Amino acid sequence: MNMKKSKHDYFSHSTYNMMKRALQFFIFMLPVIILLSCSGAIPQPTIKQADQASQRWPGTNSETLAQGRQLYISKCSGCHSVKVPSLYSEAQWDTLLRTMGTSAKLNKDEYDKILHYVLTMSNEK
Ligand code: HEC
Repeated sequence: MNMKKSKHDYFSHSTYNMMKRALQFFIFMLPVIILLSCSGAIPQPTIKQADQASQRWPGTNSETLAQGRQLYISKCSGCHSVKVPSLYSEAQWDTLLRTMGTSAKLNKDEYDKILHYVLTMSNEK
C-alpha cells in the first residue's frame, strides 16, 4: 500500500477503502464462520481410528463413520449444540445415547452409526 498519501487521503479515502474491504471480506467469510461454529469442532475420524472401528464393529468403515458424524450433527443439534465427542468416555456415551437417542427419535441404523462414531472419537479406548 502507498504510505506516502496526504493526511486528507489517509483519513478519508484510504481508510474508507480499507473498511469497505474488511466489510466485504467479513461478508464473504460469513458462511464459513457460521459453518465452523456449528460443526467445525466436530472431528472426522482419522484413517487409524476408522481402521480400529472396522475391526470392532464389522461393516463399519470411514464412510459409515462419516455418516454417523453427519447424523450426530444433524440429529443432535436440535435442542442444544453438539459436544465434541472426546468430552465423554465410552461408558458415558453409552448412557447418554440411551436417553438422547430417544429424544432425537433415532432409528436403529441412525443409533448405531452415531454410537460407533462417538465411541470411535471418545476419550477412552
Ligand atoms: C428433544 C431435545 C433433544 C435432542 C433431540 C437431543 N438432546 Fe441432548 N439434551 C437435551 C436436554 C434437555 C439436555 C439437558 C438435560 C439432561 O442432561 O438430561 C441434554 C443434554 C445432553 C448432553 C449433556 C449431558 C451431560 O450431562 O453433560 C449431551 C452430551 C447430549 N445431550 C447429547 C445428545 C446427543 C448425542 C443427541 C443426539 C442423539 C442429543 N443430545 C439430542 C435434549 C435433547
